[in-house]
Amino acid sequence: MNLKEEVNKRRTFAIISHPDAGKTTITEQLLLYSGAIRQAGTVKGKKTGKFAKSDWMAIEQQRGISVTSSVMQVDYDGYQVNIVDTPGHEDFSEDTYRTLMAVDAAVMVIDSAKGIEPQTKRLFEVVSHRGIPIFTFMNKLDRDGREPMELISELEEVLGIDAYAMNWPMGMGKTYQGNYDLFNNRLELTHPEENEGNDYLPLNEEGQVEGEYTVKQSVWYEEAIDNAQLLREAGNAFDEDAIRQGKLTPVFFGSALTGFGVQTFLDAFVDFAPSPQAMKTAEGEQVDPLSPDLTGFIFKIQANMDPRHRDRIAFVRICSGEFEEGMDVKIARTDKKIKLNNTTRFMADSREHATAAVAGDIIGLYDTGNFQIGDSIYSGKAKVTFPELPQFTPEIFMKVSPKNVMKQKSFHKGIQQLVEEGAIQLYKTWHTDEYILGAVGQLQFEVFQYRLANEYNSEVTMQSLGSKIARWIRPDQLDPSMSSSRNLLCKDRFDQPVFLFENQFAENWFQQKYPEVQLDSLL
Ligand code: G4P
Repeated sequence: MNLKEEVNKRRTFAIISHPDAGKTTITEQLLLYSGAIRQAGTVKGKKTGKFAKSDWMAIEQQRGISVTSSVMQVDYDGYQVNIVDTPGHEDFSEDTYRTLMAVDAAVMVIDSAKGIEPQTKRLFEVVSHRGIPIFTFMNKLDRDGREPMELISELEEVLGIDAYAMNWPMGMGKTYQGNYDLFNNRLELTHPEENEGNDYLPLNEEGQVEGEYTVKQSVWYEEAIDNAQLLREAGNAFDEDAIRQGKLTPVFFGSALTGFGVQTFLDAFVDFAPSPQAMKTAEGEQVDPLSPDLTGFIFKIQANMDPRHRDRIAFVRICSGEFEEGMDVKIARTDKKIKLNNTTRFMADSREHATAAVAGDIIGLYDTGNFQIGDSIYSGKAKVTFPELPQFTPEIFMKVSPKNVMKQKSFHKGIQQLVEEGAIQLYKTWHTDEYILGAVGQLQFEVFQYRLANEYNSEVTMQSLGSKIARWIRPDQLDPSMSSSRNLLCKDRFDQPVFLFENQFAENWFQQKYPEVQLDSLL
């Protein structure tokens, strides 16, 4: 294998969007164009009863949401495209955020009738913080939406990023005639049959269709010419460096549902999205993706992805080198040596046995309890440790206990595994060792309860403690008498003390009473 050639072909990205903006539909289009599926509607059809290939768990199917992040690799136009799916529901932000650490680019899908929605903004902030390229797809142009100019200004103002319109819609909804493609200097038509079957019409130097081609004259076409002129004169310049640094987002218009504009978008995406770049280690050194030694980090652990096999899989983003079946690696945290001989690659239509993978790819390692989220692995002599993945402080809490006290064992096993997956956080009350779960969103508890029952045969009782402010305290500063009715003293899963305060007032009151005590929002 030519490592350089293979790595340069990789495009690893995630789609960020608010639920319902069209992430699944656009993913499906990519699978269609790559030949991975033959028919639209196979990825997701809530109404038809078919389910997304990326939706592995029954609960996802039941609720029609994507709970876990999944990975798909497809061949598109000679590129190996890795789509790392992110849970769209806002309750799953923790898992989503970590997934965004494993990609080299992001695609932002926006519903053109709605503009920038809250979840898009939150995810954008994480991606933008990493300085990776962001490509924007303004979706659902086959329906009436907001004015394109207004959408672009909102994007720039709300997200604080410059935008470059790669194309411009001519009309929308029923009048959607096509896109005026500024970048490729052509018109792309929604109804080629009206133009002798031509999907694309070239534009002349004045930006008009001419000669043997004719286009249906319309106010939309005229407006698009004017707007294109305006954008060329007064808009941002196309700047590849700025795109690479995530300072400028190329914007495309289209309709994922009808597939219109998607191919133009994908073609530009694979051209301008970066192949895997050097990654920084915790010590600030750069790891070259073409270095022959394998390095990578675990950004997700998922138990029981396939209900027929009781398995647990650690998702590894490969940062450098080439993975080979049976190779030895070390885990940086424990120095433990592991042979990689039971690995999975994620293809669009199946999970395949992984035989070879390179920097940029994501592989699944069968885990028997060796890995933790954030672990680095390396095959070379020198230890490589990638920076820790960001953690997010839980905001809502539940007391949890087994319904059947005779089933303590499966209860403990289930909790331990789900906590190690990072799906939920576990605390125990300081004195009585009662179990308390913490999460960023309510839905995480529901999934937890469902999975405990289905995968570990353990029914639980949950009692809501509502929202709390979690603050860690240094063990040497702790005096158990600090615990009061306004705070609950707990230990986290590493037995570190943490106070759960009723509200901001309770925290302030505590801080005034014990000014010397340092409270931290993260361990
Ligand atoms: P998500 O993964 O971002 O949550 O969104 P998804 O693709 O599931 O799309 C949400 C809804 O929006 C779906 O309709 C989908 O068909 C529709 N949609 C996506 N892209 C377009 C588009 O370009 N134009 C139009 N008009 N609709 C679009 P649904 O009725 O909620 O679901 P379904 O029953 O059709 O699956």
